[in-house]
Amino acid sequence: MKISSFDHYKEVYKQSVEQPEEFWAGVADTFQWRKKWDKVLEWNFKEPRIEWFKGAKLNITENCLDRHLEEHGDKTAIIWEPNDPKDSHRVLTYRQLHDKVCQFANALKNNGAKKGDRICIYMPMVPELAIAVLACARIGAIHSVVFGGFSAQSIADRIQDAACNIVITADGGVRGNKEVPLKSIIDDALVQCKSVERVIVLTHSRTPISMIKGRDVWWEDEIRKVETQGNPDCPAEEMDAEDMLFILYTSGSTGKPKGVVHTCGGYMVYTGFTFDTAFQYQPEEVYFCTADIGWITGHSYIVYGPLSQGATTLMFEGIPTWPAPGRFWEIVEKYKVNIFYTAPTAIRSLMSFGLDVVKDKDLSSLNKLGSVGEPINEEAWHWFNDNIGHNKCPIVDTWWQTETGGFMISPVAGITPLKPSFAGLPLPGVQPILVDEKGEEVVGNDVSGNLCIKFPWPGMLRTTYGDHERCRTTYFATYDNMYFTGDGCLRDEDGYYRITGRVDDVLNVSGHRIGTAEVENAINMHSSVVESAVVGYPHDIKGQGVYAFVVCPNKHSDDELTRKDIIMTVARIIGAIAKPDKIQFVSGLPKTRSGKIMRRILRKVAEGDTGNLGDTSTLLDPAVVEEIKAGAL
Ligand code: WT7
Repeated sequence: MKISSFDHYKEVYKQSVEQPEEFWAGVADTFQWRKKWDKVLEWNFKEPRIEWFKGAKLNITENCLDRHLEEHGDKTAIIWEPNDPKDSHRVLTYRQLHDKVCQFANALKNNGAKKGDRICIYMPMVPELAIAVLACARIGAIHSVVFGGFSAQSIADRIQDAACNIVITADGGVRGNKEVPLKSIIDDALVQCKSVERVIVLTHSRTPISMIKGRDVWWEDEIRKVETQGNPDCPAEEMDAEDMLFILYTSGSTGKPKGVVHTCGGYMVYTGFTFDTAFQYQPEEVYFCTADIGWITGHSYIVYGPLSQGATTLMFEGIPTWPAPGRFWEIVEKYKVNIFYTAPTAIRSLMSFGLDVVKDKDLSSLNKLGSVGEPINEEAWHWFNDNIGHNKCPIVDTWWQTETGGFMISPVAGITPLKPSFAGLPLPGVQPILVDEKGEEVVGNDVSGNLCIKFPWPGMLRTTYGDHERCRTTYFATYDNMYFTGDGCLRDEDGYYRITGRVDDVLNVSGHRIGTAEVENAINMHSSVVESAVVGYPHDIKGQGVYAFVVCPNKHSDDELTRKDIIMTVARIIGAIAKPDKIQFVSGLPKTRSGKIMRRILRKVAEGDTGNLGDTSTLLDPAVVEEIKAGAL
């Protein structure tokens, strides 16, 4: 939605809150439906049950592809920049992307895929990843993308949870000078996954891999078969607005990651609307989001949001620091990128290389910047603003979550006033509310509390796959009649929101969400570990680092070796992103008489703030605290 002024924003916002159904119906009218809805919204947050655009029929890929063909078929949909700048880049127009999606959708069907199937995608950042995602949506199969950094065990957990019957992967991926042996990791995962009947393997890195007869087929062979069948088109499956579109696993404060479920109609409307509104996207702009499609940012704002709006979206296979730390800026220069959307952790890491790698790059094409994933500190905000945006690009600091599907609190580029480190005001249709521990609303401005949302929005999660009760208890049971985000937040004197970070046991490491319980479970898998407790601590680049207190009485005589073994164990069980940054061996954990670990104390120690540990009188054994303080890393 194009917004012309701050007053216009206020007017639209007011209407969106006073008449939400009319508002969202108006937004939904800008999309293409096979059949329109009978009812815009039915909901209760008690069960919860949330239905948007009830009775409507659509296919999201018709909105992302087909509807652009007549007038913009030759417009670039995807620009792909390879890991190695010496390799050639690729460009796909909307027509080419449409054709490739149809082809691969037919290949999926040839391999037995049908509406409602769950398909796991474990791929590098190549156009075929976007094609695979869209091909699933084309035929009504539910995709479950697993980020390429997750371990075989994590993949197996996710495949089992959703009982996927097909896996789409590649031989290998390359990020910087590292190779990721994707297919071999899948082979390891599949030892535990009886539901998988077919693995489709894209040729990419040309690493030698095993191919199992009857189970594994090559992507290229399957495309060739479709070509000889001579029927390249694949009519889109008609989906109900509330049919599942995808599952994406995310960490919580307890247990295994949960499968967040998004549905076709609401997610389409919400991602398209928020992309267009927050970035005020103009038709000729080149848009570059540096995320991986394995995370929600990539789903919503590399694939679905931009494509439903007919945008040109840039996919980058590599990492910001290879072959040199100026890589992002090189890409901006090479493709004359207009909108650059990245994470604070990337900004902070690039800041540390100084301005030499920036100053010889032509960044004059940039007109809007974006930030996502964690609170952006003022220093990073100003560096981004001064050295990348040259003080002429609004920074859109988008606060949202895997569960929200799309941006919730965010500036409207060039329209709403900016404040460094503030996500700002809610987007139209979003009704935030702050509550205190007792669940009482915190009213007025210049206040803080726990951030909740009190009215549904079309992009919100509908359930957690296979376990609706978990969805209810995690998000809708803490406070009556509200969606609880898990974030702490302050609202300043002007009503602007600043996210202060998670208030639950979830860490945000380099913009990635990691559950402390998950890391503890992984550490505890190590054969000599008795128990452990994991907390976050402030980290200059990552935002938060992982600090583990580990009880390990029979460890190797060399502590360093045991530390490395524990780190390796975590990498095996979860993936490299969850590796502890610091491991402190302790003889016991500070526990209350009822056996609860006092994390508050551990957090203070990890933060290096041992002066005042607060009340320790309820501790079973106060002596352990002295030992832990003395051994702090
Ligand atoms: C958590 C959600 C949303 C896509 C990437 C992460 C934190 C996210 C911001 C922001 C401050 C932010 C929150 C949130 N977060 N964006 N702009 N400012 N904090 O998605 O993995 O689901 O994590 O990331 O703590 O709850 P996610």
